[in-house]
Amino acid sequence: MSVRKQEGHGVLEARGIIKTFTVRREGSTRELRAVYDVSLSVAPGEIVGLVGESGCGKTTLSRIMIGIEEASSGQVLYDGRPVVGRADWRALRRSVQYVFQDPFTALCPTMRIGQALAEPLAIHGLCPAAERAARVARMLELVGLHPDVSRRLPNQLSGGQRQRVNLARALMLEPRMLICDEIVSGLDVSVQAQVLSLLIELQEKLGLGLIFISHDLRVIRYLCSRVLVMYLGEIVEQGPTEAVFDNPGHAYTKALLAAIPDHSRALAGVEHANS
Ligand SMILES: Nc1ncnc2c1ncn2[C@@H]1O[C@H](COP(=O)(O)OP(=O)(O)OP(=O)(O)O)[C@@H](O)[C@H]1O
Ligand SMILES: [Mg+2]
Repeated sequence: MSVRKQEGHGVLEARGIIKTFTVRREGSTRELRAVYDVSLSVAPGEIVGLVGESGCGKTTLSRIMIGIEEASSGQVLYDGRPVVGRADWRALRRSVQYVFQDPFTALCPTMRIGQALAEPLAIHGLCPAAERAARVARMLELVGLHPDVSRRLPNQLSGGQRQRVNLARALMLEPRMLICDEIVSGLDVSVQAQVLSLLIELQEKLGLGLIFISHDLRVIRYLCSRVLVMYLGEIVEQGPTEAVFDNPGHAYTKALLAAIPDHSRALAGVEHANS
């Protein structure tokens, strides 16, 4: 897999992001440092991996990058320009979509799939109402689902189908980037492979930039040209995926790699399947 060079500024950038939460416990309060001085940039069409143990701040960082959470300090830039006011954030949230870990809770249980897919268009006042159903059907097809799925409810779909619906929903506004937060970790291994190959297909077809968050280093190696390793809120190591994995510099990265039971064999398998 070739490493795409970054040209000019990224589509989405974070600069010096710090996030502290004030947590109350047994009457006293303390500051919890969730993200500390993190910078990252994603070029158009680039796939960047973000890896790190549970609680290291991956989701918090993503939420800040799409404006769901406010940074304590630091800056988010879209297309090289700082994102400041409401209009800026609204434009960013149209172009950068977040795909959730749990495909079930991400969908409203009482809303039919067709309506859930049309909703982003309605919210942003795009696409005349009469044309939305056709657009929904095309999108379902793009993610490998039958158009009839639009009449179903989320609980009438399998986990893999639900995650396809989530991808479809994220793509309805024709974004330039997706942030995929552990999108396959709740799925069976065989279904994971199907969803990942769909993701790669869509990424190539649509030229999407991706931040791909995962605990699974094999998946990161398979998908990402560049990887950032996060530990206790900080980026401790980053670089081209193969360089980082073949020659980890930080003790935490080494520990992560060593924690894969059959690291070399598993990766050899992925490379074989990928060749
Ligand atoms: N709203 C909040 N209030 C207080 N603390 C929070 C809040 N959101 C996150 N945290 C804390 O911030 C830290 C980072 O959490 P975050 O969810 O970003 O980690 P993560 O890397 O996404 O973990 P996981 O891999 O389990 O999803 C954790 O210690 C978490 O408990
Ligand atoms: Mg998370």
